[in-house]
Amino acid sequence: MAKEDEKKESGDWKEFFWNPRTHELLGRTASSWGLILLFYLVFYTFLAGMFCLTMYVMLLTLDDYKPTWQDRLATPGMMIRPKGEALEITYSIDQTESWDTYVQALENFLAPYNNSQQAMNNDDCPQDKYFIQEDSGEVRNNPKRSCQFNRTILEDCSGLTDRTYGYQDGKPCVLIKLNRVIGMTPGKRGENNNIQAPFVTCGAKRYKAGDEWKEDSDSIGEIAYFPPNGSFNLMYYPYYGKRAQVNYSQPLVAVKFTNITLNMDVNVECKINSLTTNNNTQISERDKFAGRVSFKLRINKA
Ligand SMILES: *[C@@H]1O[C@H](CO)[C@@H](O)[C@H](O)[C@H]1NC(C)=O
Ligand SMILES: *[C@@H]1O[C@H](CO)[C@@H](O)[C@H](O)[C@H]1NC(C)=O
Ligand SMILES: *[C@@H]1O[C@H](CO)[C@@H](O)[C@H](O)[C@H]1NC(C)=O
Ligand SMILES: *[C@@H]1O[C@H](CO)[C@@H](O)[C@H](O)[C@H]1NC(C)=O
Ligand SMILES: *[C@@H]1O[C@H](CO)[C@@H](O)[C@H](O)[C@H]1NC(C)=O
Ligand SMILES: *[C@@H]1O[C@H](CO)[C@@H](O)[C@H](O)[C@H]1NC(C)=O
Repeated sequence: MAKEDEKKESGDWKEFFWNPRTHELLGRTASSWGLILLFYLVFYTFLAGMFCLTMYVMLLTLDDYKPTWQDRLATPGMMIRPKGEALEITYSIDQTESWDTYVQALENFLAPYNNSQQAMNNDDCPQDKYFIQEDSGEVRNNPKRSCQFNRTILEDCSGLTDRTYGYQDGKPCVLIKLNRVIGMTPGKRGENNNIQAPFVTCGAKRYKAGDEWKEDSDSIGEIAYFPPNGSFNLMYYPYYGKRAQVNYSQPLVAVKFTNITLNMDVNVECKINSLTTNNNTQISERDKFAGRVSFKLRINKA
């Protein structure tokens, strides 16, 4: 009984797979299968076509020279050079190899700022005003020129007069740059339309040690700024992007710690001032680390 059932079942299955009477494969005739295949062919061709069309339209709206979307903080970030894994500059004056990497890093970083390089690539722009190079309607004004930032502006921190950037004397230089933001015109608008350029100031950072707040204001000592006011000249703005301004040299501010206390950690914080007319005290939660950079300095001497 059970055997007969099994036989019948397997026969059903065979018949389902290929029915010689009705010429049906898996329950469908050849023309039915043909219609189904045709339907899916048309359907997927249509989907692929839609995809290509939307892609094409989207690419048409993209601009090679500036990003369509830019996640723009009210205040851009800042970075220091030399920079290691952590933002920390620690060395011993007596051990040349402990500071030589910092000197090398600065040397490499500043190579494109050599006056000769700058004179070759960039323009001697009028100071203290924006270097505006707008496109006239659809007509692109590209590539755009950039302004010279001569290495000699950094004076004692240029590596030209003092080849060890002060590291050998325990008076190290640190370079500070502001992250690039396309189209930003920084500066604080005063009365009678003059604009105060943004400038960097550094000081002791407030930090939490155990339960109390501390700052190393006594140990940080005198700080010298190059160029003298620690400012980023307006002529380096606005920045039009890598594609448009191929030879752009990011402006720098050098800070030199000329009387820093040796053999102890000193926590430093540098921040940008007069970036916009709005007070920086209104910096939002998301912007808490924008417009400032902190690092640790420790110089040992036997
Ligand atoms: C830049 O100038 C320094 C000092 O004059 C020199 O040692 C270095 O080779 C120069 N670098 C380039 C890329 O010209
Ligand atoms: C930069 O240096 C070059 C060569 O020494 C000089 O011709 C040029 O005027 C300098 N530019 C600025 C902005 O100081
Ligand atoms: C960039 O620098 C190169 C090399 O000096 C120069 O030939 C070119 O004209 C410069 N381009 C722009 C847009 O400044
Ligand atoms: C530095 O700032 C002072 C006062 O803000 C100003 O009088 C002076 O011209 C500035 N110097 C430079 C080199 O920008
Ligand atoms: C350097 O700092 C020390 C205190 O840390 C102070 O006694 C000394 O007068 C300072 N020297 C100069 C030249 O400012
Ligand atoms: C900025 O802050 C100063 C003092 O902290 C205040 O007098 C001034 O009104 C503020 N300006 C704006 C635009 O909020």
